[in-house]
Amino acid sequence: MTIHIKNNEEIAAMRIAGQLASEVLDYISPFVKAGVSTGELDRLCHDYMVDVQHTIPAPLNYCPPGYSPYPKSICTSVNHQVCHGIPGTKVLKNGDIVNLDITVIKDGFHGDTSRMFIVGEGSVQAQRLCQVTFESMWIGIEQVKPDAFLGDIGAAIQTYAENAGFSVVREFCGHGIGKEFHEDPQVLHYGRKGSGLKLRPGMIFTIEPMINAGKKDIRQLADGWTIVTADHSLSAQWEHTVLVTDTGYEVLTHSAGCPPPPTL
Ligand code: MF3
Ligand code: CO
Ligand code: CO
Repeated sequence: MTIHIKNNEEIAAMRIAGQLASEVLDYISPFVKAGVSTGELDRLCHDYMVDVQHTIPAPLNYCPPGYSPYPKSICTSVNHQVCHGIPGTKVLKNGDIVNLDITVIKDGFHGDTSRMFIVGEGSVQAQRLCQVTFESMWIGIEQVKPDAFLGDIGAAIQTYAENAGFSVVREFCGHGIGKEFHEDPQVLHYGRKGSGLKLRPGMIFTIEPMINAGKKDIRQLADGWTIVTADHSLSAQWEHTVLVTDTGYEVLTHSAGCPPPPTL
């Protein structure tokens, strides 16, 4: 495992990439309405990244070992889809929940962030799942400081989500990020306080809990990418890219339209 500690120049570049990723979400937010297709959201984001930001959509043709190239520029995961939903002809309807996951590359550095959107009026359960997932991401972020452990992040997220009656997806995790989309370390969203890697200033990784309303088990669809809950219960995810600073953390995927941290 090689964990790359970023220097000041790299941190400056990661701040820019992170803000740009978050600004794609700001841009697309008003389009997330009943009647729009996930393919249309992908096309709008793609054109904004390429033509306006001059960023590269990192998902497009991304091909980790054992996968086929990812065919689109963003991930759109609707309702019981956990992550890596491929945009297409699916039309959003009132009450749907959808995660939009954006990763841009600017000057060789990656920024990775996702938010949940509730289309029109969501059920009480859908609203609660999205809110608890948002809060669990932030409780994870608040663990980040030098000499804390990766396990502190996972334990805090797991305790919070499970106390709310939800479950934590195990197979996918946060990740180091920089010149590579997915770097070491793996950032699990469950675990034991005081376990795992010790955090050091200059580490940059994502925190991106996937929380299910039902059981934690997942399945992969035949498209080779889309992950769904095995019991078809709703799933939510939020993601930020975070820097370990000398005193705590800095959220790099910040922009004007970014929802403020919750009062916990
Ligand atoms: N953005 C996702 C993450 O948070 C990864 C998506 S890989 C893709 O790690 F190929 F599906 F885009
Ligand atoms: Co990520
Ligand atoms: Co992401």
